[in-house]
Amino acid sequence: MTGNEMSPEARGGMERHAYDVVVIGAGGAGLRAAIAAHEAGARTAVVCKSLLGKAHTVMAEGGAAAALGNRWPEDTWQVHFRDTMRGGKMLNNWRMAQLHAQEAPERVLELEDWGALFDRTEDGLISQRDFGGHRYARLAHVGDRTGLELIRTLQQRTVQLGVDVFMECTVTEVLKQDGRVAGAFGYWRETGRFVTFEAPSVILATGGIGKSYKVTSNSWEYTGDGHALALRAGADLINMEFVQFHPTGMVWPPSVKGLLVTESVRGDGGILTNSEGKRFMFDYIPEFFRAETADTVEEADAWYDDKKNNRRPPELLPRDEVARAINSEIKAGRGSPHGGIFLDIASRRDADYIRKRLPSMYHQFKELADVDITAEPMEIGPTCHYVMGGVEVDPDTQQSAVPGLYAAGEVSGGMHGSNRLGGNSLSDLLVFGKRAGESAAAYATTGERPAVAEADVKAAQADALAPFDVAAGPGGGGENPYTIQHDLQQAMNDLVGIIRTAPELEESLGELARLKERADRMVVEGHRQYNPGWHLALDLRNMLLVSECIAKAALARQESRGGHTRDDFPGPDPEWGAKNLVLSLDESGHGVDIAEKPLPVMPDDLQQLFQDT
Ligand code: FUM
Repeated sequence: MTGNEMSPEARGGMERHAYDVVVIGAGGAGLRAAIAAHEAGARTAVVCKSLLGKAHTVMAEGGAAAALGNRWPEDTWQVHFRDTMRGGKMLNNWRMAQLHAQEAPERVLELEDWGALFDRTEDGLISQRDFGGHRYARLAHVGDRTGLELIRTLQQRTVQLGVDVFMECTVTEVLKQDGRVAGAFGYWRETGRFVTFEAPSVILATGGIGKSYKVTSNSWEYTGDGHALALRAGADLINMEFVQFHPTGMVWPPSVKGLLVTESVRGDGGILTNSEGKRFMFDYIPEFFRAETADTVEEADAWYDDKKNNRRPPELLPRDEVARAINSEIKAGRGSPHGGIFLDIASRRDADYIRKRLPSMYHQFKELADVDITAEPMEIGPTCHYVMGGVEVDPDTQQSAVPGLYAAGEVSGGMHGSNRLGGNSLSDLLVFGKRAGESAAAYATTGERPAVAEADVKAAQADALAPFDVAAGPGGGGENPYTIQHDLQQAMNDLVGIIRTAPELEESLGELARLKERADRMVVEGHRQYNPGWHLALDLRNMLLVSECIAKAALARQESRGGHTRDDFPGPDPEWGAKNLVLSLDESGHGVDIAEKPLPVMPDDLQQLFQDT
């Protein structure tokens, strides 16, 4: 799908391509960024390690949050902004949250112009659904396949515009010259051949880090590549201690453990119950949310029936609250047969409604677990879904500390603070994908183009081939990348999971150091042509680095806030609420340093919004 084919001269040597903007990642953020860069007149390419359209974006099933005001005319960007900040426990970058809330409606409407088919209200407007932490029903949706429709729409537009797409091509290094971005280096997964992209602007849109955890909704691609590329290029990461465990992943059968069960099931009326049949979420309503949350079963039921009373069922608390409550019930021995709890929509809604609103969930459970969700409850439990932390960027341009390096979507940090509200990821990637694309194009098409240094290309090549050079130990025994990945995922699940303590976090750092040593002794067999063991060995470098960021930041932050719960520091601490933790590559180039940084101060007019309800 590339118009910029390799020149015949290049065939004998290394493949090279020249662009103004190279976007790494072809999920929603990457595609929206590529469209914007192309429309701004930049020669643009998208490079993705998987197939076009296969992205975690599709796992945002329930909708894109935007204050369109279709269901609730009272909804405005100010209310959305306030919900987002409160959901993130006020640690969000206020400017990003403001831009997001202001621009999300336009970005959603634009998708419709490009062919996205949203569900409609009775009046023919875009339908909006309820999700946790949103005061009003504001998720524009397409059944429970919104992310898929979003990707389909953006993908179609990207191809129509003629943007070049390099599929199954993994980028291993961002190349720089005189402190500025000069391009990117990678390899074709099929042939193992190397490729260099020359470009003054590189946009990271690689998504998250979920594969560092054992139970996750993320698929194999999400190994923290963009986070690690940014660190190695000299940019900083923030908020890495905040990892979102979506409350509802499948727990059975084992082959699909962690697979997402959309929050729409709760948004459309589903309730959570334990092995005693109790609707336990009433026991977990935090003081902070009490004013907006139903206190009794009757109130919650009335809310479903009469939206005007504007109180929320406890199942629609923000995700961090619900995941912790489920975790507590399971730990207290009130779990389901396979170690989860029950999510029941069958007793609340009729079968036609469920099949119409939640078609994917209906088929997913029927085909994978032999469960008919119109007739019986689902067994679900928390699953690692999203990382709030990421590359520290300028909120207006998405540029990192490295000139020419941008980040958009999940790989960027700040927008969601300590906890993301469901539905805010799709609107985030639309708003900031566009901004990143425009800024990257403007930067690339003015000023000089830095040249890629041959020595840097050779060094990147040597680094990529290093796993082949490790000799097996005596008796042929070297470390197997799959074993290291398994042990990493187990350690992160057990020691850096939903509930954390200082001793366990210290243990995790010791284990990560041992895993890094073992990774130095990894043996990769065979040759460069389609070699998944080699690919994993390269991905593991990134996974180990970002896992260290998560564990270090989690140990440093001595409070509980959003997606970071410390058993030994159970509440939020106002001092910690005023600062971010910033991670950068240390001098050795293999570890990370951590520092504290005050949050940007929110202007008075926005602070005023929190004085009202
Ligand atoms: O539950 C969901 O549909 C996921 C949405 C999201 O992560 O935004």
